[in-house]
Amino acid sequence: MNQPSPKRRGRFITLEGGEGAGKSTQVEGLKRFLEDQGIALVTTREPGGTPVAEAIRGLLLSRDHPAMHPDTELLLMFAARAEHLRTLILPALEAGRWVLCDRFTDATYAYQGGGRGVDPARIAALEVWVQGPVRPDLTLLLDMDVKTGLARARGRSEADRFEQEAVEFFERVREAYLERARSEPARYRIIDASRSVEAVAGDLQQAVSSLMGTGQGT
Ligand SMILES: Nc1ncnc2c1ncn2[C@@H]1O[C@H](COP(=O)(O)OP(=O)(O)OP(=O)(O)O)[C@@H](O)[C@H]1O
Ligand SMILES: [Mg+2]
Repeated sequence: MNQPSPKRRGRFITLEGGEGAGKSTQVEGLKRFLEDQGIALVTTREPGGTPVAEAIRGLLLSRDHPAMHPDTELLLMFAARAEHLRTLILPALEAGRWVLCDRFTDATYAYQGGGRGVDPARIAALEVWVQGPVRPDLTLLLDMDVKTGLARARGRSEADRFEQEAVEFFERVREAYLERARSEPARYRIIDASRSVEAVAGDLQQAVSSLMGTGQGT
């Protein structure tokens, strides 16, 4: 059995949403909030989070490879995830720390599934292969109008390989995220990300509070 152990003591929280929704902006504030509650927390991101996985991120986001095959993209996402999960996320959870991750497997369903049209069953097969039974305890979906999010992201930095896609691609990404959130309401909170940084932060704090004092991770 080479699948990851499900023996986790910390909580695993993921932040999801389209380009420019404010995921990275919210990580620091949410980290401070949790630490103020006495929680030992690791913050990280996908694709990436470890040296090997960050190198794979470089391949995935580089505009030097605009024509990557969707299967290659999918496998690289899960290759990075395998490294990240086994060397950073699971050791932290097993040591009792909480992990807050900027994007995780829901992003693969949204971007490679919804966006690129990869069959979700193929993504699910890789999810089981790489993660075994490991899933986030809570997923915070920052949802907002695609064009406004893209305008925010483009105001921030030069477009990466994904950000060069057409608006229709991101509309499919948004729809795939929302569909997943509706199909698994116990794990997701959908948050209106079009509001101020402070208003979004307040909702995120309320959502993570539901995880406190509720026993062990599964
Ligand atoms: N609530 C908000 N209102 C207005 N601007 C915001 C808000 N949240 C973030 N921004 C700004 O929008 C831009 C994108 O935010 P951020 O990088 O946090 O998004 P992201 O969800 O991490 O995007 P990506 O998916 O591209 O990583 C940044 O310039 C940030 O300062
Ligand atoms: Mg970001």
